[in-house]
Amino acid sequence: MAACFDCHGYHDVFPVSDPRSRLSSGRIVATCQQCHPGVGAGFTQYQPHANPLDSTNYPILNKVFLFMTTLLVGTFAFFGVHTLFWLVRSIYLFLHDSKQFREAKVTIERDDEWFTRFTPFERFLHLMVVTSFLLLTITGMPLKFYYTAWARTIFDLIGGADVARALHHFGAIITFAYFALHLGALAISLWRRRSALRDPATGRRSLRRLVAAVFGPDSMFPSLQDGRDFVAHNRWFFGKGPRPQFDRWTYWERFDYLAVFWGVFAIGVSGLIMWFPAFFTQYLPGWVINIAHVVHSDEALLAAGFIFTFHFFNTHFRLEKFPMDTVIFSGRISKSEMLHERKRWYDRLVAEGRLEAHRVRDDWEGRRPIARTFGFLFFGLGLVLLVLIVYAMSSRLVH
Ligand code: HEC
Ligand code: HEC
Repeated sequence: MAACFDCHGYHDVFPVSDPRSRLSSGRIVATCQQCHPGVGAGFTQYQPHANPLDSTNYPILNKVFLFMTTLLVGTFAFFGVHTLFWLVRSIYLFLHDSKQFREAKVTIERDDEWFTRFTPFERFLHLMVVTSFLLLTITGMPLKFYYTAWARTIFDLIGGADVARALHHFGAIITFAYFALHLGALAISLWRRRSALRDPATGRRSLRRLVAAVFGPDSMFPSLQDGRDFVAHNRWFFGKGPRPQFDRWTYWERFDYLAVFWGVFAIGVSGLIMWFPAFFTQYLPGWVINIAHVVHSDEALLAAGFIFTFHFFNTHFRLEKFPMDTVIFSGRISKSEMLHERKRWYDRLVAEGRLEAHRVRDDWEGRRPIARTFGFLFFGLGLVLLVLIVYAMSSRLVH
């Protein structure tokens, strides 16, 4: 970064409003261009001294900061309580009915009837998400927590901040690639299923069928059913109702999906602005770079914090699955597991005569160790990063 004198000058420091100042409106573009060749007037509206907490001088930045902080704190508070209830309930069951509990777990693992839950393409996308996410976290977090000793250690291990930056950009490219692949696949599958929107009797498209498809059980879009499932699940946490059965997607899986969708969008757009500030400030005022900083940094913390705690817990650490659910690597789910927690999906497939189409017959046992190894490696990295983040944030609070 530039030092004070690079922008303000040496013996010619004047108030910015003074035309003699290097930062006066007539001279500021040339001052910035010394180091940022080719930038225009928009770029000079970047606010080097911006403070997101200062609502008087930086009202927009302050509002964005408050919004992002509310999102962060709100999400963590909500899922923190949710996970705590769930954990307490699981431990209670484990202690009071451990025999049945363990038997259920063993049958799930040794079942010989398997059905496809994730296609190879979807598993490949998840692998792209995992690897790029870890790479981006490892190379990005040291920038956010630059004041810690571990940030310097990581930069040293990687080979310096410049290498870290190059790797970070590489992770960004993988991210944009899987986002585009997913959107493309989504568009193709919607196009293929367009006939489902037509009423078989009249042959005309109906709004009712569109609504049913968007909010249906195979869609990732949240529906009223998710609200009902959420209430039923909470009742079960307190022993006030049976454990709810789910369809193909649970409410927390849909939340995870939409969270990644929003996250990639918010982090992606802000990241591009930071990557190519000169280009974007041809069209946008320079203070969008300040906003991009806040959005990028807070959303990254939210994403990493969420994935390494709640996502890990919801999918892997709950007692039935502990220590890992390999479904996202193998793509397959056993019949007893479907009956155990996704009976609505199973019943629907049977009723629609689609169950057989989902049956898998190939050998998985041989590949299980490979999937486990990768899974645990990803986990381990995630947990280490989580510890580092918590450590950095708490050390900031103490000092
Ligand atoms: C990247 C260029 C840049 C650097 C580096 C920089 N400044 Fe500034 N500074 C500006 C600009 C542009 C303004 C006017 C906009 C504003 O107030 O934010 C400004 C405004 C100021 C002001 C208010 C002056 C006035 O007339 O309104 C002070 C004081 C100041 N800077 C001090 C510093 C100090 C001290 C440092 C080093 C720690 C520093 N600046 C580094 C660009 C820079
Ligand atoms: C003495 C050289 C120098 C001058 C003069 C200078 N900068 Fe910079 N600027 C840098 C360096 C070095 C970086 C860090 C580059 C990097 O890490 O990619 C930087 C980074 C930036 C960034 C990216 C910040 C970020 O974290 O994303 C912005 C925006 C920026 N400068 C704006 C300005 C503006 C506006 C001016 C004029 C008021 C200015 N700079 C003047 C050297 C300079």
